[in-house]
Amino acid sequence: MKPVKNLFAAISLLVLHAPIAFSQAKCLINVKVDKSIATIQPTMWGIFFEDINTGADGGIYAELVKNRSFEFYKPLAGWSVRPADISYVPFQKQFGEGTVMIVNRQEKNTANPRFMRITANNASKGSLGLTNEGFDGMGIREDVQYNFSMMYHQQAAGLKLHIELVDSTGKNLGGASLIPSENGNEWHKASASFVATSTELKGRMNIWFEGSGVIDMDMISLFPGDTWKNRPGGMRSDLVQLLADLKPGFIRFPGGCIVEGRELSTRYQWKKTIGPLEERQLIVNRWNTEIVNRPAPDYFQTFGLGFFEYFQLAEDIGAEPLPILNCGMACQFNTAEVAPIEQLDPYLQDALDLIEFANGDVKTKWGAVRVQLGHTAPFHLKMIGVGNENWGPQYVERLKIFQRAIKEKYPAIKIIASTGAMFEGSMFDYLTAELKKIKPEFIDEHYYNRPEWFLKNTTRYDNYDRNGSKIFAGEYAAQSDRVVSTENKNNLRTAIAEAAFLTGLERNADVVNMASYAPLFAKVDGWQWKPDLIWFDNLHAYGTPNYYVQKLFSNNKGTDVISALSNGKPVTGQDSLYASAVIDKNTNEVIIKIVNSSSVEKQTCLQVEGAKKIRSPASMTVLTGQSLEQENSIESPGAIKPVVQSMDVKGDKINIGLKPNSLTVIHVGMNSTSK
Ligand code: AHR
Repeated sequence: MKPVKNLFAAISLLVLHAPIAFSQAKCLINVKVDKSIATIQPTMWGIFFEDINTGADGGIYAELVKNRSFEFYKPLAGWSVRPADISYVPFQKQFGEGTVMIVNRQEKNTANPRFMRITANNASKGSLGLTNEGFDGMGIREDVQYNFSMMYHQQAAGLKLHIELVDSTGKNLGGASLIPSENGNEWHKASASFVATSTELKGRMNIWFEGSGVIDMDMISLFPGDTWKNRPGGMRSDLVQLLADLKPGFIRFPGGCIVEGRELSTRYQWKKTIGPLEERQLIVNRWNTEIVNRPAPDYFQTFGLGFFEYFQLAEDIGAEPLPILNCGMACQFNTAEVAPIEQLDPYLQDALDLIEFANGDVKTKWGAVRVQLGHTAPFHLKMIGVGNENWGPQYVERLKIFQRAIKEKYPAIKIIASTGAMFEGSMFDYLTAELKKIKPEFIDEHYYNRPEWFLKNTTRYDNYDRNGSKIFAGEYAAQSDRVVSTENKNNLRTAIAEAAFLTGLERNADVVNMASYAPLFAKVDGWQWKPDLIWFDNLHAYGTPNYYVQKLFSNNKGTDVISALSNGKPVTGQDSLYASAVIDKNTNEVIIKIVNSSSVEKQTCLQVEGAKKIRSPASMTVLTGQSLEQENSIESPGAIKPVVQSMDVKGDKINIGLKPNSLTVIHVGMNSTSK
């Protein structure tokens, strides 16, 4: 080599030679593809569904009418009577056009006691009517069919109903008329359909009465026709699609704290959530007043989305159903009521009957109910959660009883036990020690903490007992502020910290068999808890950066964990890098996930050892953003989203620039492994 004569020449020489020198150097991360460390369970990455943040009613459940059966505490919540000077009981004023009255038949019908009675006296369109406001408006889409229905009875025909959708200015967006026939005292269903003429974020529905007569109405409903799989009375397809895109291994339902209820009387009872809609008794949602500065007084659970629908959703999106049941304990953050041990039978029976409902054949009582609901094949339930965030000796006592009863009848069903709301500390330690004796198949751990905690805890399971229960990371999310703060954000900072943590879960997939971010959904104008994976309004939905982290891990889960080491050690924060690697035996690929949590780009060399031949090009998917505080929004849903590019690979080394604050997923195809 000639001596360098000037500075410019020296720099050129360095630049020209640097890549060669670099590629010959020892690589920072070594991945060994020929030795499987652990099998990755198909359940590894799943989803957690709870009716919080308007997740079910007003969310994924596509019903547009709020308080369709007048059972909210205020019977006319969501409704207004038109014109405003027409009142309902107790005033019962008569204004010439008619009266509106709420009737309560509690003695006859405990599940759905109230209905509305309209008396019209020579009413004309516009003179007597009802308006439903929907769930902060109704999302209406141009050219979509809308299906109106109601239960009614009337002694004599004589009334015509005009159903119309309007925008915020009152402009008509489509509608239909209906002449209910005379049907005496029996309840009948009447329906009408029409196509919307334009799109509106916050539409409303009017029902105008014309003529004279008395009509009783209940279960007044409006659904879009474009639900998921076009099921009548089904779910919002855009929201379900976002779930399906995650390819989740399981779906945990129905929560969360609503499993426990604020008190035992408002606990989640699955048997009350199946069968005809008008027989599903609604209850208040405990999130209505839980977060003091986000009150939601009209938050109820109508159970239109009930246990049958949850099982069906699981099947639709290829996820294992994972129900969590109440174990005789109300929320320990609220009343902490417990059912006495000698009165635990109904709770136990609910668990046993649920297994029969999901898996039993038509000869069994509850299997026959499932068949009658239209699902002949079993739902193949394999696991069940006993309690949500329950703790203390009361929980241990009840868990043992549940475990004994379930195993006696269904030995193959796996039990998921709670470790309470804490992931460390004396209550956690007490439960962990007790659970070692009880030996449930899975232990449900929850972590809501600052991003730094997630970065520090990527080694949480490195030294975990390999012979005990498996871990279900059943709820977690990095909190940019603090738990239950309404200031929390779904920003890049939290997403990157979670991604780093997930490399630790993946590396320990022999003990961590399931993980789910929580909560799943939040409505932009109807939320209580932040952060959340998916945000939506009446018409739009978007995935947060945290959603894309989940998607990248779940869509690239592979079949086997392999080692990814730096200087012989797992990559758990050295030089702000976190890494894990898997192979996918089905596609013969190695998939490497690397998080760079620093604010500078890192030039890194990866060596893939043990493959006979590596295919080029490889692909690289990068999730990053302009700043750690950046978020997605309804206006900019894709501000942060994965970007895929291909890269040439020569030999077994890959030189890569890891973007600041990024998750990078590298896919390398192999012709075959050397062993
Ligand atoms: O995910 C929100 C809540 O957090 C869940 O309902 C509860 O289990 C946890 O405390």
